[in-house]
Amino acid sequence: MRKPLVAGNWKMNKTIAETRDLVFTMSMKLRKIEGVEKVICPPFMSLMAASALLEGSGIGLGAQNMHWEEKGAFTGEVSPAMVKELCGYVILGHSERRSYFGETDQTVNRKLLAAQAMDLVPIVCVGETLEQYESKLTREIVSAQTSQSLRDVAPAYAPRMIVAYEPVWAIGTGKASNGPEANDVVKDVIRPALAELFGNETAQAIRVLYGGSVTSANADEFFSQPDIDGALVGGASLKIDEFVAITKAAASTEA
Ligand code: 13P
Repeated sequence: MRKPLVAGNWKMNKTIAETRDLVFTMSMKLRKIEGVEKVICPPFMSLMAASALLEGSGIGLGAQNMHWEEKGAFTGEVSPAMVKELCGYVILGHSERRSYFGETDQTVNRKLLAAQAMDLVPIVCVGETLEQYESKLTREIVSAQTSQSLRDVAPAYAPRMIVAYEPVWAIGTGKASNGPEANDVVKDVIRPALAELFGNETAQAIRVLYGGSVTSANADEFFSQPDIDGALVGGASLKIDEFVAITKAAASTEA
């Protein structure tokens, strides 16, 4: 059985003061929801404040990125050990990192191996662009991203990893994919690529999330799909009622 997971990616939103307000109120509501793993990923600057408020809540904390090197002259970067001090999770290879900051499957893989060394739970993002989608390249692109980004991971660590399928054309556009189409990509592309890397049993154990314009209105459509194990939520994760409703929808799918 794969336990459902809902993670909120706050992206570059909320100051420390705003984070305190949001986490305080949101965590009161989220902590009562059982049967789903809950994670919030505020900006680096806010992690310390969020961590203090989430202590003992059962709600996980994640970073949105990190560097792969242990330490040194990498101005502006944050190391795996720094993330580990506050977080249990880290988002890696988000499409915004790939498109605006030059991340590639190779650098995502280095980060993933660094997360493994630190025993962080990675949420590794894959997904095709609009152009690739329209050119019917989804399968080829997502398969290559999965195999390349997740290679060389130890068999014991593999089942702890989380993959997020986020079609880039669905991110922040209000134009979500639909349940069956997203499920097909997970079932026919991502899990087979995972099976090739780690064997079928492990591929069935790894949780795969959907991300891209998830709201309380369409969450059920994704969560009712057999191969989709939760969501990586952007915009709606900043709205208390929305994120709580999405989390409840995921919890209700636990068998
Ligand atoms: P939106 O939910 O705002 O479309 O963002 C999705 C996303 O990128 C989550 O990582």
